[in-house]
Amino acid sequence: MASNTLTIIDNRTGKRYEIPIEEGNVIRASLLRQIKTSEDDFGLMSYDPAFTNTASCKSKITYIDGEKGILRYRGYPIEELAENSNYLETAYLLIKGELPDIERYKAWEHNIKTHTMVHENIKRLMDGFRYDAHPMGMLLGTIGALSTFYPDAANIFDPESRRLQTRRLIGKLPTLAAYAYRHMRGLPYVYPDNDLSYTGNFLSMLFKMTEVKYKPNPVLERALDVLFILHADHEQNCSTNAMRSVGSSHVDPYSATAAAVAALYGPLHGGANEAVVRMLMEIGSIKRVPEIIKQVKAGERLLYGFGHRVYKNYDPRAKIVRRLANEVFEVTGKNPLIDIALELERIALQDDYFVSRKLYPNVDFYSGIIYQAMGFPMVMFPVLFAIPRVSGWLAQWNEMVQDPEQKIARPRQVYIGEGLRHYVPIERRPAPAHLEEPVSEAI
Ligand code: SDX
Repeated sequence: MASNTLTIIDNRTGKRYEIPIEEGNVIRASLLRQIKTSEDDFGLMSYDPAFTNTASCKSKITYIDGEKGILRYRGYPIEELAENSNYLETAYLLIKGELPDIERYKAWEHNIKTHTMVHENIKRLMDGFRYDAHPMGMLLGTIGALSTFYPDAANIFDPESRRLQTRRLIGKLPTLAAYAYRHMRGLPYVYPDNDLSYTGNFLSMLFKMTEVKYKPNPVLERALDVLFILHADHEQNCSTNAMRSVGSSHVDPYSATAAAVAALYGPLHGGANEAVVRMLMEIGSIKRVPEIIKQVKAGERLLYGFGHRVYKNYDPRAKIVRRLANEVFEVTGKNPLIDIALELERIALQDDYFVSRKLYPNVDFYSGIIYQAMGFPMVMFPVLFAIPRVSGWLAQWNEMVQDPEQKIARPRQVYIGEGLRHYVPIERRPAPAHLEEPVSEAI
């Protein structure tokens, strides 16, 4: 009977090693250290830049099958949640591990809504940003600042403190995001209206003008709520890795969340939805699509919104977003950029460059087109990603804090620098041999 082990023969020594295979396809990298050529040898390490084939944790939260295009939150298919759930219920599922009954859902909704206000000083902090500051930078700064308003958050091993900070962050993210938007627009901040739904209140804080009570359009309110469901978690993506890695130092969850927002800000990650719309606006017409595809295939540019580290099939979220666009356009009118996006997708999915690299549309390819149709400026698009993702980050952080196998994240390296050398006084020191740039640039 085949054993669940890997037999490694070190040809340098002829020694054999039996390495257990766990969970069906995992070996513990630490077991490579026993493979040595002598007693004082450090032993073998695995080298995996960007962790393309390295599991950093065991998690029960989100399951992705990249080849089949499957995404499940706590076992529930994303398609069923998008169809039947709402964002707050999905956030409960991610964080608690089960869908709530009516009583627990109402308590959860109440607990989140009692934390939608922010300290008045946050307004002054927000006012300190320039008028043209990117709202992701404002979000990054204000979330980090929240750690100074809630010093109790440092008690990360107190379950009640973790529960309180989790409620605060989910409750306050829309408020901080809306304040950043209102600051950009030079408009007064709008206080939360807890009579409205989570997403309806967010729309009110964004778009309320002189009317006594903002009435969100139900189609747009539901569309945004579904988009929040789709963006809530995605296992060990770049920003979740930042949340876990920074959180592993036992810093408070606001500081760890600020690090996650910083990671999400990048155009290869959560900033991609903004980059997609900028790309589509630059393309400007369907007629230019063949030229753009040619540039992409020549390696001159990325096709933003395409490709994924895990999905080697169509991102299941992109399919839902694409359908959602039509419902939104019924209310807002069609965003003409959708025609360029559809043509890009049509051509790409039949071109070997994309097919051979398994490059399909990801969640960001169509989401920005919807946000733009709903009246959001492009700089707000990554902020709309961050709001729902905070529940995923918090679910992952809570899991990490309670995982007995986890400790401070501190990777190894492969040193390829200089060997030992000694200091030479400056008057006897020649020009640095391998530095090509002239002195003026070096200074
Ligand atoms: C998100 O990880 C997550 O789960 C993230 C996310 C989440 O919910 O958290 O799903 C959200 O971030 C979605 C991704 C949004 N980013 C973009 O749309 C930016 C464009 N996409 C690429 O930058 C890229 O596809 C990544 C970053 C998403 C994935 O990069 P990988 O896995 O490192 O793949 P790679 O760069 O090694 O690419 C493999 C090949 C390369 O070509 P060759 O060197 O083999 O010739 O595919 C090419 C790449 O050049 N390629 C692309 C491309 N993506 C990959 N070529 C053109 N356009 C692209 N978009």
